[in-house]
Amino acid sequence: MDPASLSLSSQKEVLYILGIDTSCDDTGVGIVRVQNGVPEVLANALWSQKVHRQYGGVMPEVASREHVERIDAILEDALVQAGISLSDITAVAATRGPGLVGALLVGLTYGKGLAQGLGVPFYAMHHLEGHIQAAVSEHPDLPFPHLALVVSGGHTHLFKVNAPGQYELVGATRDDAAGEAFDKVARMLGLGYPGGPAISKAAERGDPRGVELPRPLLGQKAFDFSFSGIKTACLLAVKAGVNPENLAASFQFRVVESLVQTTKRAAKALGIRHVVVSGGVAANRALREAFGQSGLRSHFPPMHLNTDNGAMIALAAVKKALKGEQHSDWESEAEAYLPLVQAAH
Ligand code: KG4
Ligand code: ZN
Repeated sequence: MDPASLSLSSQKEVLYILGIDTSCDDTGVGIVRVQNGVPEVLANALWSQKVHRQYGGVMPEVASREHVERIDAILEDALVQAGISLSDITAVAATRGPGLVGALLVGLTYGKGLAQGLGVPFYAMHHLEGHIQAAVSEHPDLPFPHLALVVSGGHTHLFKVNAPGQYELVGATRDDAAGEAFDKVARMLGLGYPGGPAISKAAERGDPRGVELPRPLLGQKAFDFSFSGIKTACLLAVKAGVNPENLAASFQFRVVESLVQTTKRAAKALGIRHVVVSGGVAANRALREAFGQSGLRSHFPPMHLNTDNGAMIALAAVKKALKGEQHSDWESEAEAYLPLVQAAH
């Protein structure tokens, strides 16, 4: 069958895509139904591993073991949420990278096995495409080119999206990821892990101008990010005994300011108005508000799809499944390091 007729036939069918993400410390299984070419999230089952809290960060071997122990039950949850059975699934997708290699391997192998057993195609997906699609799928008419800012525990990347699946790297962090900085500053303040929600909560009671912190990469011509200077300044402030709520608010203010201002400069330079913001840090209220007031047209995922989850991986696979791509990525391997674009930056 030629690809055009495949595409037409799959537009008419109802597809049920199962998506799996085990890239870090969340075991996620989601189910997306595609009807008349329109995707809808039916299920988003998630186990956020609590065991890492005692370490103040993610322990890779412990994460892999927990994925193995939990994934059956999370799959079951997803099927119950969606009200379908395993035999209804028409394709399986799983994250192949980037992430913790042992953790990725669990979901990838599980997904392949499931697809083999069901006799359906298997798609190996890029984690960042999942984050981006979690926001884009809500806005099917988003014009191209648009910007995509991915801000999570492992990534801070700004892409120009020229066409579906065609990314150009515009800027990236030169040191820590934004979420990583939230986690580290939370740890300094004894607020626990993950740090983002804890800092955000503490910041509500603090003064964002209460502690003087540096503005990163001031005056740069590029569109990069850097959070290690702010982080060091926070450590010195903690040692000096500043008010923790003021510090949380001031830290959050500087990070948000840097993300919004850099994205704004890039948008202006490239003549782009629309920006998609996704990844765990996109859950941050101050960030959402600042983008709302930035003059840019910003698009965020629904709240439950900000941090890692399986539904976003199913959403990222919709295009492949709709094209009726019959090939399956059986050969794909888990990749800890997997840039979305191979651009020299
Ligand atoms: O996307 P994600 O679940 O995992 C990665 O792919 O890295 O992102 C997790 C990160 C953590 O660093 C966490 O602290 C941060 O997202 N995060 C937040 C908020 N909720 C989660 N950061 C700031 N504000 C939040 N409300
Ligand atoms: Zn992520």
